[in-house]
Amino acid sequence: MSKQFDVIVIGAGPGGYIAAIRAAQLGFQVACIDEWTNAAGGAAPGGTCTNVGCIPSKALLQSSEHFDHANHHFAEHGISTGAVKMDVAKMIARKDNVVKQNNDGILYLFKKNKVSFFHGRGSFVKAVEGGYEIKVAGKAEETLVGKQVIVATGSNARSLPSVPFDEVNVLSNDGALRVGAVPKKLAVIGSGVIGLEMGSVWRRLGADVTILEGLPTFLGAVDEQIAKEAKKAFDKQGLKIELGVKVGEIKSLKKGVSIAYTNAKGEEVKLDADKLIVSIGRVPNTNGLNVEAVGLQLDERGAILVDGDCKTNLPGVWAVGDVVRGPMLAHKAEEEGVAVAERIAGQHGHVNFNTIPWVIYTSPEIAWVGRTEQQLKADGVKYKAGSFPFLANGRARALGDTTGMVKFLADAATDEILGVHIVGPMASELIAEAVVAMEFRASAEDIARICHAHPSLSEATKEAALAVDKRTLNF
Ligand code: FAD
Ligand code: NAI
Repeated sequence: MSKQFDVIVIGAGPGGYIAAIRAAQLGFQVACIDEWTNAAGGAAPGGTCTNVGCIPSKALLQSSEHFDHANHHFAEHGISTGAVKMDVAKMIARKDNVVKQNNDGILYLFKKNKVSFFHGRGSFVKAVEGGYEIKVAGKAEETLVGKQVIVATGSNARSLPSVPFDEVNVLSNDGALRVGAVPKKLAVIGSGVIGLEMGSVWRRLGADVTILEGLPTFLGAVDEQIAKEAKKAFDKQGLKIELGVKVGEIKSLKKGVSIAYTNAKGEEVKLDADKLIVSIGRVPNTNGLNVEAVGLQLDERGAILVDGDCKTNLPGVWAVGDVVRGPMLAHKAEEEGVAVAERIAGQHGHVNFNTIPWVIYTSPEIAWVGRTEQQLKADGVKYKAGSFPFLANGRARALGDTTGMVKFLADAATDEILGVHIVGPMASELIAEAVVAMEFRASAEDIARICHAHPSLSEATKEAALAVDKRTLNF
């Protein structure tokens, strides 16, 4: 006998588990299926984000930042520590514990919200009267029927066609988060978000890190001025970033990897490394969903084809998060999950793609929302720009972290904020004010007229807004 639900969610990453909870809050009978399994064989909901993405990467960034501070910054505060040692196994165990707390937290939330959780692989069987039959292949096999189905099956790391991930020498994000000892030499292909975050972790811990990037521009999606400032800081930290390279043959050896590439000057180079992280983007994951059984349409990239409301070509089937178009970000997946649950309930769920923030958790952090200066130029928009350096901010000086700036871009005629770009301390937190301002279609002057606490990094935001009108007070 199949179990009946109003809504079945396949995938319990940030898109899926949040959709399931919101749907349950709205009064639906909800099932959520996820196949992620922890080392002990138990369920580990939370998806890429919780298990091998956002959460564990930030745990390692935090540990490595503490190590870096103890090594390089404590002395200026008058703190002497003697030789600072890193126990990598302990750091990884702490990270695993942080992940487990998040897995357990989601299982608790499912219970609290009366979401029925099924551990196993979900796949389409067939369309039935008023819904879809979904099989769960786990320890036992079960059949569920849902009136509505939300697919939130996420994405997987893209590999280089010539070298599959072995997670020993050639690492995806998964292996990069559980390296057992600091590699002497680490190579990274792709200077995107993962390359920079994971490269930073292992660089801070002492690895000699070389990042090979195919494009001639560093962080092309980031505002040019901000990317330039960030690159300067990374160079100073000893992250070797080579732009405009063409990666050739990669050999995974008994111990380590050998990478042949052509550099931007056209020279043939051979790089030997103990480990290689390949971070060249991610591909939508529809493995094992059996989309053919119901005729669920994919696009040319293998993503589930959806409209602006996350509706697929099948009535009552929706898809959210990394498995559909748009930025591959946890908070984007969550927003889509909430919006879909609300649409199923007949409400007007909405995701504003213009105000989705991006954060790169390096040091300095990089964060932005809205359009970059180069995009505004390309779009022919007349704009005013204003920026304020952290060097002139009292709190940043007290922190001992004055790298970077806040930069505002506002419409030349109306003063509406079109983009805010930050490189510097706590950019990840500071960007929230800009997102709120843009959601409310605030002007730069609105921010400039708001009282910000002193001394705080957020005063740099206010001053950058003042700078749009060329009237900074502290610079
Ligand atoms: P996922 O999180 O991938 O979840 C999909 C889930 O579906 C998985 O649990 C999977 O096991 C399950 N599944 C798939 N197929 C089936 C099936 N047939 N049956 C049952 N279960 C199935 N984003 C940020 O916003 N901030 C960050 O700091 C950040 N850091 C990241 C760091 C790294 C190293 C990586 C790799 C990614 C990071 N991301 C970050 C991106 C973020 O992880 C993703 O955007 C987010 O996880 C997407 O959520 P999702 O729900 O769409 O998919
Ligand atoms: P990415 O898209 O951020 O960067 C990939 C980089 O690899 C690009 O610069 C690209 O030009 C380069 N590249 C591609 N093919 C190449 C090749 N053959 N040789 C050399 N360079 C090549 O992808 P990444 O870093 O793998 O991350 C995937 C996604 O995960 C991100 O786009 C983001 O959506 C998400 N993520 C988000 C984080 C955050 O929000 N802080 C952290 C980590 C990941």
